[in-house]
Amino acid sequence: MWIYEKKLQYPVRVSKCDPRMAKLLMEQYGGADGELAAALRYLNQRYTIPDKVIGLLTDIGTEEFAHLEMIATMVYKLTKDATPRQLEDAGLGPHFVAHEKALFYSNAAGDPWTATYIQAKGDPIADLYEDIAAEEKARATYQWLIDMTDDVDLQDGLKFLREREVVHSLRFREAVEILKEERELKKVF
Ligand SMILES: [Fe+2]
Repeated sequence: MWIYEKKLQYPVRVSKCDPRMAKLLMEQYGGADGELAAALRYLNQRYTIPDKVIGLLTDIGTEEFAHLEMIATMVYKLTKDATPRQLEDAGLGPHFVAHEKALFYSNAAGDPWTATYIQAKGDPIADLYEDIAAEEKARATYQWLIDMTDDVDLQDGLKFLREREVVHSLRFREAVEILKEERELKKVF
């Protein structure tokens, strides 16, 4: 079960209305390497992963939902004062006619989220290597997003999220080593 805390993991600030950045940020909302994909990937893999790393997947999967909230808040703040015309100029016309300003699980190109973005192989090492790759790809996407804006307030939130991907990647790498060690021990006895 989960206990909800009604606050963001890290404060989200933006300094201006910027639907262009909102559209780009959708990559981390409903994109292949985004936060929804990460949360669902890790929480689902828990059922076939060795006990020693279940807690890690729960912790990180849960945190990814907190990151999803931060991205949603960024998109909301970047678009709340935008006119339909400004949204259209930013490439969000098709989104507006389908969803108005509601968020939707799609990537920056407008393609809807799909379960084919994620895997659950059942092999712990294969799953953890996928998780490491996912974290590295998410980190890279955050870097490209930071490079796409000069809004220092927005950059601040994005830098926090980028750092968390680095931490997650390191923790998944540690988990791989723990499971490899365990596998070696089994051969001895
Ligand atoms: Fe992550």
